Amino acid sequence: MRVLVTGGGGFIGSAVCRHFIADLKYDVVVIDKMTYAGNLASLAAVASSSHYAFEKHDICDAGAVTSIFARYQPDAVVHLAAESHVDRSISGSDVFVKTNVLGTFTLLEAARSYLHSSRRDNSVDFRFVHVSTDEVYGSLGDDGLFTETTAYDPSSPYSATKAASDHLARAWHRTYGLPAIVSNCSNNYGPYHFPEKLIPLIILNALDRKSLPVYGNGSNVRDWLYVEDHARALGVILTKGLPGETYNIGGRNERKNIEVVQQICTWMDRLRPGRGSHHDLITFVADRPGHDQRYAIDATKLETELGWRAQETFETGIEKTVRWYLDRADWWKPLRDKVYGGERLGLIKA
Ligand SMILES: NC(=O)c1ccc[n+]([C@@H]2O[C@H](COP(=O)([O-])OP(=O)(O)OC[C@H]3O[C@@H](n4cnc5c(N)ncnc54)[C@H](O)[C@@H]3O)[C@@H](O)[C@H]2O)c1
Repeated sequence: MRVLVTGGGGFIGSAVCRHFIADLKYDVVVIDKMTYAGNLASLAAVASSSHYAFEKHDICDAGAVTSIFARYQPDAVVHLAAESHVDRSISGSDVFVKTNVLGTFTLLEAARSYLHSSRRDNSVDFRFVHVSTDEVYGSLGDDGLFTETTAYDPSSPYSATKAASDHLARAWHRTYGLPAIVSNCSNNYGPYHFPEKLIPLIILNALDRKSLPVYGNGSNVRDWLYVEDHARALGVILTKGLPGETYNIGGRNERKNIEVVQQICTWMDRLRPGRGSHHDLITFVADRPGHDQRYAIDATKLETELGWRAQETFETGIEKTVRWYLDRADWWKPLRDKVYGGERLGLIKA
């Protein structure tokens, strides 16, 4: 199996590459533009493998994408390349529209023409797995879960562009017969997470004894999934999922943001004691504009039809994650020093 992984230099994409190469023994070709979020250090574990190739390209570049399909003759695409940070989408949405919508369109078209080319080896059923988010469904009240049939109702420029790209993937299946599958996953966390996102930002600020910013009153709920569970789910969807289907991915780990931050503080108090409790650093700050209140995934379809289960609970996953950041300053320090120092993003300026 040879898989094109777009966005393989990112947080989830690099976990997918590590899983596919080390555990599943697939050949992986990464296409990544290497934006601020892409990092070759996240791929160091597989970089010397004969099963790995890297192509630095923008997925909006139709010529480059078409030639990569022709050169590598992949059996599948797992499409993760995207602009992924809600706060950045509030400050500058244009690149989100370009990459998430036009980039997905470019890939779908390149895959379609590749499938119709005479050189394609038809012995393996081709799949195009389009990786998306639960944020396309909008916000839940206190009860209920997102299912695969929940109506789309995105709130942010990020989720609106992901919703648009999901619609494109489904339309390319229905109209052109492209064997596309859409996955919608809840919030991920774990190693190699860029330090602009809540969990790594809180761990690293706590390590520096800086204030720990919590948006609004901290009551917003997210359904956390350990990133390696997501990578395993994508492996299962790739081989067992049915074209045209959608699979929700989530670990049944709903937590309020304030609870997540408190749990990190408790681990930091244990692992880095001294100079008072890290809980005292928690600071409530202005809320995110359009902040969705609650996300929660019903993953029954993926669990019952394809046999996937999350292996980590939030408690096991957050301990691993805190310990990883404490051990891997070599990975995050260059990012904190040179790429993103922890400043507030995504406030609308008058
Ligand atoms: N992080 C989450 O909690 C989460 C949850 C569900 C779904 N997703 C989806 O999973 C995918 C990966 O998310 P992530 O958190 O790993 O994102 P990320 O921001 O860490 O990584 C994105 C990667 O895409 C690359 N990229 C961006 N624009 C590109 C372009 N035009 N051409 C080629 N490469 C480009 C970046 O360089 C980076 O390596 C995204 O599609 C996201 O919407 C993320």
